[in-house]
Amino acid sequence: MRRFVEIDSTNRYLLDQARHGAPEGTAAVADHQTAGRGRRGRSWVDRPGSSLLLSVLLRPQLPRHRLHLATAAMALAACSACEGEAGFLPAIKWPNDVMAGERKLAGVLAEVEPPAVVVVGVGLNVDPPGPPGPPVGGAAALSEVAGRPVDREALLECLLRSLDDWVRHWEAVADEYRRRCATIGRAVRIHLVDETFTGDAVDVDESGHLVVDVGGRLRTVVAGDVVHLRPD
Ligand code: BTN
Repeated sequence: MRRFVEIDSTNRYLLDQARHGAPEGTAAVADHQTAGRGRRGRSWVDRPGSSLLLSVLLRPQLPRHRLHLATAAMALAACSACEGEAGFLPAIKWPNDVMAGERKLAGVLAEVEPPAVVVVGVGLNVDPPGPPGPPVGGAAALSEVAGRPVDREALLECLLRSLDDWVRHWEAVADEYRRRCATIGRAVRIHLVDETFTGDAVDVDESGHLVVDVGGRLRTVVAGDVVHLRPD
């Protein structure tokens, strides 16, 4: 485990380490990132010391089209850690958002280094930015939804244990992900790079892809942004 007070990005760091032969399970954790990476080229901004910022290097024995399960495994591990250390069990918004109701508690980013490496990172808001009270900007923080302080170190240990379990049981990941996925059963708007459409999310398949009923025709979404259209 490599620990940093400050780094540009723990994902970037582990992708570099992977190129130099770092083994599966190598992890990097930081108090602050200066160039945190989010999905689809977005940045991930944190307040120093207030989040769990973690990446883990995996070499999963999975076909390429199932590598999305790495994102799912990390999201499930984050849910377990929140439940274990804060008594709050989040839901997952497909594909990678860990949610407290309609607010985002954590995001997961998996980056692939072909042929076999996946670096999967999570940014989990533990303490709200600014003074105590409801966090600003629509994001949730774990200590706020739990109503008590949360120990980042204990959260980290719990998350790593859970992730270790999931990566030993890839065959069980999709089922548990479906159980925790708040997107299934919702009316959704899907934003792809070159197209937007609406439909009803009906399933997540064995590869972690979202299945959407669009006017009676099923479409499988491999990667995209999802908006939940109506409150649950
Ligand atoms: C998202 O919701 O867009 C995904 C955010 C992922 C952020 C984490 S923080 C630790 C790791 N290092 C990064 O640069 N990004 C991920």
